[in-house]
Amino acid sequence: MSAAPLQGRTVLVTGGTRGIGRAISLQLARAGARVLANHARNESAAAALGAAAAAEGLELSTLRADLTSAKGMESIREAVAATTALSLVHAAATGVHKPSESLTLRHWDFTHALNVRAFFELVQLLRPHFGPGSAIVPISSAGAVRAVPAYAAIGSSKAALEALARHLAAELAPAGVRVNIVAPGSVLTEAWDAFPDKAARIAAAAARTPRGHLVRPEEVASLVQFLLSPASEGIVGQTLVIDGGAQIVE
Ligand SMILES: NC(=O)c1ccc[n+]([C@@H]2O[C@H](COP(=O)([O-])OP(=O)(O)OC[C@H]3O[C@@H](n4cnc5c(N)ncnc54)[C@H](OP(=O)(O)O)[C@@H]3O)[C@@H](O)[C@H]2O)c1
Repeated sequence: MSAAPLQGRTVLVTGGTRGIGRAISLQLARAGARVLANHARNESAAAALGAAAAAEGLELSTLRADLTSAKGMESIREAVAATTALSLVHAAATGVHKPSESLTLRHWDFTHALNVRAFFELVQLLRPHFGPGSAIVPISSAGAVRAVPAYAAIGSSKAALEALARHLAAELAPAGVRVNIVAPGSVLTEAWDAFPDKAARIAAAAARTPRGHLVRPEEVASLVQFLLSPASEGIVGQTLVIDGGAQIVE
């Protein structure tokens, strides 16, 4: 593999300025891609990423666009207007953590709007910009296939995301566009701040992995880079679990 395996490629990374998305944006830019790192609200995180990328001389620009709004989608359309052989990583996600009996339809719609509906809308919008060599990688989670406490809204959105991605994989493969899903286990990011018992949850999650520590955002980014590169050419429509072995142990 050359030093810049993604040279000449453009990649839109949704939710690309914080957490796992940030690590993906940086890794892909370091691999030679021109990266559009999307975010919704947190300008300081976007500015910090922009500065870090500029310091390394990377081709990375941040793009503020709420993917649950028509205006946000219009910003994406404008940003990619002149782009061909575009790739897409959908890392943006949100959700309401509650047991199902406490979930309202508003919670449901809010969660599914970004996690799966926006992905569907993006793929429709970006279709003219995909071409041979393009890759699409939505980021799912273990909750798509396992019952995680207070995770019904998010888990169901991720299950829908995975099912949609498999259908897209079959539909787009003849055009040379590959779709694969990355499903991380527990990864240490700011998303954990939402839990009041954060430290206990992290310790419990780490104890469940044979390695004894959580997956790092950079490890997820390496897998995404692999799925965007010709090295993974034969992999189509798969869900790749990256959880440090959590699922294989009792
Ligand atoms: N962390 C974990 O343990 C874990 C485990 C399994 C799977 N995952 C998945 O990995 C992905 C990244 O997770 P993370 O923990 O790194 O997330 P995070 O730190 O919470 O970052 C979320 C990103 O999504 C963006 N975003 C939120 N609402 C948006 C909207 N309406 N439009 C566009 N962008 C929006 C945020 O932008 P702002 O900065 O502007 O708010 C931010 O860049 C998600 O798909 C998550 O489900 C995470």
